Amino acid sequence: MAGVSVQAFRRQGRRFGAGLVCSEMVSCAGIAHGNEKTLGYLRVASDEHPLAIQIFGSEPRVMGEAARMVESVGADLVDINFGCPVKKVTKTGAGATLLDEPHRACAIVEAVAQAVDLPVSVKMRRGLRDGARTCLDVGPRLVEVGAATLTLHPRSAQQMYTGTADHALTAELVSLVDVPVIASGDIVSRARAQAVLAATGAAAVMVGRGAQGNPWVLREIVDGDGRDPTREEVVAELVVFVRETVRELGERRASGFLKKFYGWYLGRGRFPKQFKQELVVLDSTAEVERRLLAAAPGAMPLLEQLEDERGESDEMLLDLPISIYGGG
Ligand SMILES: Cc1cc2nc3c(=O)[nH]c(=O)nc-3n(C[C@H](O)[C@H](O)[C@H](O)COP(=O)(O)O)c2cc1C
Repeated sequence: MAGVSVQAFRRQGRRFGAGLVCSEMVSCAGIAHGNEKTLGYLRVASDEHPLAIQIFGSEPRVMGEAARMVESVGADLVDINFGCPVKKVTKTGAGATLLDEPHRACAIVEAVAQAVDLPVSVKMRRGLRDGARTCLDVGPRLVEVGAATLTLHPRSAQQMYTGTADHALTAELVSLVDVPVIASGDIVSRARAQAVLAATGAAAVMVGRGAQGNPWVLREIVDGDGRDPTREEVVAELVVFVRETVRELGERRASGFLKKFYGWYLGRGRFPKQFKQELVVLDSTAEVERRLLAAAPGAMPLLEQLEDERGESDEMLLDLPISIYGGG
């Protein structure tokens, strides 16, 4: 998820049981131009694997080159974005608009599949307009030219994130292709995951918004452990997330980026509403951390334990170039 799936989010997802995590979408033009900001997205930590890096663009040759770069930085899978509904992306001929340009979409997948040895996956929406069934036409064609798996978010681009994901379409897509299909959209609990898997025959589910500020849902989905986290667990996890994000983005950028996460972590009845309001106006993340630990002093031992556990992989992280992530 653009603006969400930073490395800290992905590493956390892995710790809580996600079988595969994915980067934010990365512009292939940005990669081709060696744009420093874009290259910051291609930073892979040793404990993220298996990791997919998602690229978007509209030129098959440039997408192929970007895929090579994705392979060289150590991703396990290249994912292609045919789902982004945002104007800034669709007006360049990338994202969901490619569903209405099947020739170009196929040329992109073919170029990417030929460029790399990694498996190539495609993430798509149902189509551009409400009620569209374009994914059922385009999906099988993408498989023919090299897509090793398809992820379907069965909303239209027009819908953005309104309404519900129509997983009847996911079931239809599963019946049309002989590669694994991943179901994306409104998977917010184990019960929902099981229902969608059973109804569609999909090989896996993808969890997006449900995991924002709530990695515990991954544990629930994977292990059936539906325990709500204690306030101490929430605070310890959030403090680790804050620290890692600061290391990744730098203090200035992280402090803005993190604000939305405070509501996600502290909501769900976990803390009074005004506590989040207090945090978002603080000047530094160190101050945020102090306030969080003051609200749940019992979080300290949990935090120390989490820091100990991730100590070793952090050593490896320090060997990597300092993040030059630029946002998105
Ligand atoms: C803030 C945000 C950013 C997203 N960015 C991407 C993206 O970069 N690439 C992508 O394929 N999907 C992106 N998505 C779509 C999600 O991957 C997912 O398909 C969609 O949110 C439905 O799943 P959910 O109900 O589990 O969130 C984004 C969704 C949100 C809410």
